[in-house]
Amino acid sequence: MKITLSVIKADIGSIGGHIKPSGRLFKTVQDYIATNGSGLIKDFYTSYTGDDIAILMSHTRGKLDSKIHKLAWDAFLAGTDVARKQGLYGAGQDLLKDTFSGNVRGMGPAVAEMQFNERPNEPFLFFAADKTEPGAYNLPMYLTFADPMNTPGLLLQPNLTKGFKFTIMDVSYTKGDRVIELKTPEDLYNIAALLRDNDRYVIESITSRDSGEPAAAVSTTRLHNIAGKYTGKDDPVALVRVQHDFPATGEVLAPYARGHFVGGGMRGSHHMPLMPLKINSPTSYFDGPPMVSCAAFCVHNGKFTEPADCFDHPFWDHVRDKVARKSIEMREQGFSGPAMLPFTELEYGGIVKILDSMNKKFTVRKK
Ligand code: 13P
Ligand code: 13P
Ligand code: MG
Ligand code: MG
Repeated sequence: MKITLSVIKADIGSIGGHIKPSGRLFKTVQDYIATNGSGLIKDFYTSYTGDDIAILMSHTRGKLDSKIHKLAWDAFLAGTDVARKQGLYGAGQDLLKDTFSGNVRGMGPAVAEMQFNERPNEPFLFFAADKTEPGAYNLPMYLTFADPMNTPGLLLQPNLTKGFKFTIMDVSYTKGDRVIELKTPEDLYNIAALLRDNDRYVIESITSRDSGEPAAAVSTTRLHNIAGKYTGKDDPVALVRVQHDFPATGEVLAPYARGHFVGGGMRGSHHMPLMPLKINSPTSYFDGPPMVSCAAFCVHNGKFTEPADCFDHPFWDHVRDKVARKSIEMREQGFSGPAMLPFTELEYGGIVKILDSMNKKFTVRKK
């Protein structure tokens, strides 16, 4: 059976700042999908990561389907109503357009989708990140799909040795989708050359060269490109199929033990390490640290199993301690140098005014 997995995620309000949605808000979104999704979707699962609510759906309608996207959009509108009534912070924060126009791309919510023929057993992973940008997945995905130091399957599993095709998007280009397709292993250095720039080049999807099957999909929403100013961080979601034709679950999770530095944290304007956390975790230190959660499922005839919470294991306590240490070390650096994002990312915020006002006061000394 050809099914589509769609995950659509938005921040529509939270308790006590950018921490987490209220129970009532979360339940409103969940109930909306349960009531209005019947006949349209095969199954769904809702979770939150920091202040973002994600709706994972399975259906047979393909990618960018207007009914599926509208279902999620309307659930977020219903949630926003409750968020306003409760006086939650940032009610409707990520709903940047007033009228729905076909699909949620370019409207604020993050979306990642994959359509494929369900394998007899179809395990997949659903990632959700908060207080960071889509490029946060660049390094982990590169390590998983391109580096045999991380993924022994690239050497040991015949289906993987042919490599993968990476579709990478230039997310700073706003007139359309500017993309490039590159193949492993021959384009490894070109891929790395792009992916080093997390705020500009973002993995959109990865495909198996052996089977041509989709392996991974990442949301590429850049909110400041839509709003023209800072309205919140992009907080990306991703889907990854695992085992057999794809990397094993452990090979997809392993890179997150690094706690690599990503753009995000306080006011979306800093470099902070990415902390792997349990599903439905709140934000905390310095409006962060940037966090990622991962729920593993099997889907069969479009029905999901219950999720396995991938970072809910003692191993990740050790990683979380390390990430907390790295966070504090970077924060000791305040606004200086690498602690804060480069100007190209900050130019959507208030610092532009400060610098502009001083620009006029600068003088060039006569020799
Ligand atoms: P399977 O052979 O059952 O897929 O598991 C092996 C594996 O990939 C473990 O990493
Ligand atoms: P969110 O994008 O998660 O709402 O965070 C915004 C922010 O500026 C936190 O400091
Ligand atoms: Mg928020
Ligand atoms: Mg958020």
